[in-house]
Amino acid sequence: MDIIMSSKKPEINIEYFGQQSRFYSFFEMIVDDLLHGNGIYAETNSGSNCNAYMFAKKGYKVITNDISEYSFSVSNAIMSDNVPTDFSYKYDWLKKYSDSYIKRASVFASIVDIYGYNAEIPDKLDDELEIKIEEYIKYFSNINARNVRAFKIYNEDLFCYLKRLYEDNIKVDIMFMDFAWPWRDGSKTEEYNTTANTYSNVFEKTKFKKIEIWDKSNVIDNVIKAIKEAKKVSKYVLLSNQSSNYPTPELLEVALLKNNLNYEIRHTMLTDAEYEDNLGKETFFREYLYVIKGDVNE
Ligand SMILES: C[S@@+](CC[C@H](N)C(=O)[O-])C[C@H]1O[C@@H](n2cnc3c(N)ncnc32)[C@H](O)[C@@H]1O
Repeated sequence: MDIIMSSKKPEINIEYFGQQSRFYSFFEMIVDDLLHGNGIYAETNSGSNCNAYMFAKKGYKVITNDISEYSFSVSNAIMSDNVPTDFSYKYDWLKKYSDSYIKRASVFASIVDIYGYNAEIPDKLDDELEIKIEEYIKYFSNINARNVRAFKIYNEDLFCYLKRLYEDNIKVDIMFMDFAWPWRDGSKTEEYNTTANTYSNVFEKTKFKKIEIWDKSNVIDNVIKAIKEAKKVSKYVLLSNQSSNYPTPELLEVALLKNNLNYEIRHTMLTDAEYEDNLGKETFFREYLYVIKGDVNE
């Protein structure tokens, strides 16, 4: 299926680099077509969690994962009743926001909103930031009150997460993978270094060693490895790539074929870049969504 749709403003909008809101209606059509409204929909890199939220709201059992503490906080803030059990904080001013995921998510979202995608965590709280955080606390509290809930929420490197699902015998109907892809020229996307590294270990005790952000030298190998691991726990693996990324569809598809990862369908969608965080690098985007049959049958 190759379609052209105009971007639709997402139901919830979170300042998160790489948020794919322009494609959510497209993903919804594809997932509904495969699952007909029932089943477990999981992700490896949930980012803003807005895609996952849409599927949870529709009644799918949703599993989110992302290495970023920002992403993990948002998932819990909008789709759970969980309270943090780990109360460390990078700077003293963060203490008063550490005891709920809604507050933690509000801190991250406000920093990005005011200071941009590559902002460090400030060591002091000023009035502007404090007011913004209060606004976000209201925003996330309202979303949480809608009672849309995730089935499970993880905060792991995607390879550990896939291994954990396998070891815990958790099978999913769809594993949706939108990686932290490099830019089209093959360079790593700094903004994902911010979400994955700078926005981790802020409220939680040091858990992670530094996450390597993929570039031209390792992205294809990592993608192939991730698909193989995902297939073991999934009925379908959906691989999402965009025209602004490296590798190009041609390079990616040859790599898939060489590794016996034949996709059943390649959906594509062309859209303008409205509502997006693409830093003005493109005026349009094409999404490529590959449907790959996994090893789970029943
Ligand atoms: C393209 S964004 C996902 C955006 C998401 N689809 C959305 O619509 O909001 C990629 C995400 O991958 C995360 N990430 C980077 N390296 C990771 C890793 N090794 N394991 C898990 N998540 C990772 C980043 O923190 C970022 O949130």
